[in-house]
Amino acid sequence: MAYDAATEFTRFEPHLLSPNIGAELLGADLTNPDDTLIKEVRAALLKYQVVFFRDQHELTRAQHLDFARAFGDLEIHPATPKNQPDPEVLRIAHGPNSRGIENNWHSDVTWREEPSLGSILRAIELPEIGGDTLFSNMVLAYEDLDEGLQNRLCEMTAVHDIARVFAKRLNKDASKLHERFPPKEHPVIRTHPETGKRLIYVNVAFTDYIKGMDRDESDQLLKYLYHRAWLPEYQCRFRWAPGSLAFWDNRACQHYAASDYFPNVRIMERVTIAGDKPYFDAST
Ligand code: SIN
Repeated sequence: MAYDAATEFTRFEPHLLSPNIGAELLGADLTNPDDTLIKEVRAALLKYQVVFFRDQHELTRAQHLDFARAFGDLEIHPATPKNQPDPEVLRIAHGPNSRGIENNWHSDVTWREEPSLGSILRAIELPEIGGDTLFSNMVLAYEDLDEGLQNRLCEMTAVHDIARVFAKRLNKDASKLHERFPPKEHPVIRTHPETGKRLIYVNVAFTDYIKGMDRDESDQLLKYLYHRAWLPEYQCRFRWAPGSLAFWDNRACQHYAASDYFPNVRIMERVTIAGDKPYFDAST
């Protein structure tokens, strides 16, 4: 779908979480979405990079999946247990025996050849306080860089590796994981396929190194770029409540789940929509 910045919102009222990223779409009902709602949510996603829904208490897991399918094919994450009845649902559950580990800035599954378009996360059980999710606008993070650095970065390619996070989490050797998911190369600056905007596309979770650079130099430059996501000016922070969902554009922003609720329970279900191969278009 082409980006239409002029789409009017008739099915909900966007309520901004911060000036630069994130909006709650007040009044949207996801239980029975029609084409107009899907079109408007998509336009809002492109405009705000992450959108939130409240009070979807009636939404079932099947409806969560159906809503996500309206935006594309769904992925199956290797961390999903085999034989799970809905393999496209990734359950992210923490409590007294497991501290939250999603507390690093990242964009989902950049270790894939075609990393995901977006993820839709539904709250199942929440701590009374804590476990917020933060989002950071990587378009703005790129636009605020010095022009000389922007030009240099636009020519660079980085290698992304699933093993950085999931070797330990899945209790597998990197070499074993690489048989199924070999490291992938993506441009350090990608062009968003729908908005045409440029953005920083490296993240501390999955990016391993920049090609053709001395390792120390690559580490130093990556560290600088990772830290751009940490600037509060680019961020919004979402406080979850029962019935909440978040839908973020993995091609535009990064996210971070605050791990401050241990030993309380936080259970979420994530459905991830397949994306396309990142590219850099020098003409945009
Ligand atoms: C994730 O990193 O995809 C999960 C985010 C969250 O649990 O808030």
